[in-house]
Amino acid sequence: MKEIVRKVITIHVNGKTYDIPVGTGRYEMPESETLSHTLRDRLGLTGLKIGCDQGACGCCTVIMDGKAVTSCMTLTMDCDGKTITTIEGLADRATGELDGLQQAFLDNCGYQCGFCTPGIIMTAKAFLEEHENPTEEEVREALAGNYCRCGTHYTAVESVMAYVQKRKEERQ
Ligand code: FES
Ligand code: FES
Repeated sequence: MKEIVRKVITIHVNGKTYDIPVGTGRYEMPESETLSHTLRDRLGLTGLKIGCDQGACGCCTVIMDGKAVTSCMTLTMDCDGKTITTIEGLADRATGELDGLQQAFLDNCGYQCGFCTPGIIMTAKAFLEEHENPTEEEVREALAGNYCRCGTHYTAVESVMAYVQKRKEERQ
């Protein structure tokens, strides 16, 4: 009799490890499932939003192994062993204190709607991990893939720049 080999994908999300069985059964994940649906529908992490579902709006952005990725364009099958941070994972896990960048958005009224804001913050967060002291122009360029459809741009950039300045002062 042919042995059935079960596939399991392991992902590490916001400090927790999830083993997700792959298959066509009721509780299994189809191979075609995107990371955005896995995070939202299976893990209940609904902070990321699915806007265009085709890689154009940035609403679904998460950080995977240090890089910002559009989760709607990423198959969960390709994430085996990866470390993922969603907007829910930015705050300090022990104290619940917001990440400095989140706080900067609050302090500078950088929040836009619930659809685009999480993606903007995650894109900015990944960018700032690699850019110590970016210019406003560079921040605008980094956020170019995160479209607001309402034309209310862009106090988000001011918030990111305020955080860059604060971080610089704290590190001096
Ligand atoms: S929903 Fe993923 S880029 Fe728009
Ligand atoms: S899409 Fe969020 S404020 Fe426009």
